[in-house]
Amino acid sequence: MAPIPKGSTVAVTGGAGFIGGWVVKLLLDKGYRVRACVRDVNDAVKTDFLRDMPGYASGRLKLYSADLDKPGCFDEAFAGCQGICHVSHISDYDDQDYVRGVCEHVIKSINKAGTVNRVIVTSSIAAIISEADLNELQRRPVFYEDRYPDEENPKRTTAKGQGYSMGKVALERMFTDAAEGSGEWDCIRICPADNVGPILAAHQKDKGPWQNNIEMMLKGKYYQNGAYRPWMTVDVRDDAECHIRLLENVDVKNGDRYIAWSTDTINVEDVCASINRLLPELGHDTPKITDTFPEHIQAREEKMRAIWAGCDLRNDRIRAVTGIEFRSLDSSIRDCVESLLSVAGVQPQLRDGFTLPKSS
Ligand SMILES: NC(=O)c1ccc[n+]([C@@H]2O[C@H](COP(=O)([O-])OP(=O)(O)OC[C@H]3O[C@@H](n4cnc5c(N)ncnc54)[C@H](OP(=O)(O)O)[C@@H]3O)[C@@H](O)[C@H]2O)c1
Repeated sequence: MAPIPKGSTVAVTGGAGFIGGWVVKLLLDKGYRVRACVRDVNDAVKTDFLRDMPGYASGRLKLYSADLDKPGCFDEAFAGCQGICHVSHISDYDDQDYVRGVCEHVIKSINKAGTVNRVIVTSSIAAIISEADLNELQRRPVFYEDRYPDEENPKRTTAKGQGYSMGKVALERMFTDAAEGSGEWDCIRICPADNVGPILAAHQKDKGPWQNNIEMMLKGKYYQNGAYRPWMTVDVRDDAECHIRLLENVDVKNGDRYIAWSTDTINVEDVCASINRLLPELGHDTPKITDTFPEHIQAREEKMRAIWAGCDLRNDRIRAVTGIEFRSLDSSIRDCVESLLSVAGVQPQLRDGFTLPKSS
């Protein structure tokens, strides 16, 4: 299918979210007409940052209320659109019937529009690397687009915390099949890693979860990550840029799947320490990491860290197809911290002798 025309109309689901907000902003910067789909346009806390974007004043950015739990939710927003970025989260990843139901709602609205060429579906690296058994990472340590979690593992259940990964794999398959069935639009899947970078609005600090983790670090408390997994990051601005370049690309085809990550990995204690290293003038009081894992998990810490360290992160495909050059993680952490302070008013824990500058 053809890429979307330059300057055409693109709808973004989850438009008030961390990634969706950046997709909206960068689409506007590139001259597109944008429909930001939010749960409730009257929720000023979540949507005023969109109204403050210059494109809103001229009408190039329009806001639509759409709760994807409701059938027909995107009929109005998608009518006349050439591109869709389906970035939104859903309300529950542990109910796989619900997951399929909300995918159906979005797909029906796309088909009803009859104008859509291309849909970018935001999946996750969880649909690539989330294993019910960590030893599977040793058996298949190369993280690239053709990798899926071991779906035969009997522990791959929602009860064992695999709902998010299962839901994302289901979403990818449903959209690819629906696009194939329609013959009118194609679905390109993007699997972003851990998004770090600046928030655009204060409410986004509570989402994430990575910006929320940096907020906790700033406030002086941080807990060890699940299974001692290092952060595997992408800057949220680069992630959003990849979404748009995939909408515009002339070479991609239905069902293509791209991981969006820089291939940087970093342990949480080093993320904590980075704040003071990158912004010494702030005087951040670097917290110690609290490890709340039960003893039998803590006993396996060294082994788990070694498993993750042995994994090989690849981003050959997305770099080749989009030409993206991923930012350094240092700039993502620095800009995230500065936005938490300036946009969300987070009060960091500082060492003796340091205070925040008075705002003018
Ligand atoms: N952040 C990451 O590191 C990361 C990594 C990999 C993949 N992803 C994927 O990227 C997407 C966006 O993540 P994000 O970090 O930007 O999340 P976010 O900041 O929480 O934004 C998600 C948006 O989805 C909306 N939403 C949730 N349920 C909805 C519903 N039933 N109807 C309408 N809107 C609904 C939320 O609206 P409300 O605020 O009103 O709830 C929110 O604005 C998700 O699909 C996520 O799985 C994120």
